[in-house]
Amino acid sequence: MIDTSHVVIRHATEADLPALEWEGEYRKFRRVYRRAMEDARRGRRILFVAEIGGEIIGQIFIQLSHHRFNQKRFPSTGYLQSFRIKKAFRNRGIGTRLINRAEEALKERGYIRAIIAVAQHNKDARRLYERYGYSVFREDPGEWSFIDDQGLPQNISEPAYLMEKQL
Ligand SMILES: CC(C)(COP(=O)(O)OP(=O)(O)OC[C@H]1O[C@@H](n2cnc3c(N)ncnc32)[C@H](O)[C@@H]1OP(=O)(O)O)[C@@H](O)C(=O)NCCC(=O)NCCS
Repeated sequence: MIDTSHVVIRHATEADLPALEWEGEYRKFRRVYRRAMEDARRGRRILFVAEIGGEIIGQIFIQLSHHRFNQKRFPSTGYLQSFRIKKAFRNRGIGTRLINRAEEALKERGYIRAIIAVAQHNKDARRLYERYGYSVFREDPGEWSFIDDQGLPQNISEPAYLMEKQL
């Protein structure tokens, strides 16, 4: 059994970028993560990682404004994204700690609402968010695109539920 009592939640730094690709599984998001780091430097996003013994084992990003949730219709809303924990470390409360930290960071900044998109097939994640007070308010086609590490455009289509929580 892995002892997770020494897991630290902290802000991601530039030096963490390679580790966010895990063992190559998320290499395709290299440019996406670089951009997220750039946004963090400009105060547009907050990136948290969970670390144990020098290994990055999880992450959650917060987008402080989002083109799909303009601040007129969704004032003071933070958008949680890229939430994941490495398989070997799941079901030990680390994901819960990351979500709590993300919500705290939003509250500290005066945000009143958090939104997260969950893939419609991801019943476990949906159950976890419901337990933490999130509820589905809309379906979303989950269509977005990005440029992968090879410079190739990738189009994603993953129907999702948008879930919200008043902070
Ligand atoms: C979703 C995800 C981030 C949750 O992370 P996690 O660290 O496993 O989350 P937690 O451990 O806090 O909670 C999850 C489960 O563990 C249980 N749990 C919480 N604390 C626990 C502890 N200390 N010991 C044992 N189990 C615990 C929870 O009750 C929950 O169980 P459930 O299956 O009954 O809902 C993780 O499963 C993951 O990375 N999944 C793949 C990617 C993904 O789906 N991301 C979400 C995209 S929207």
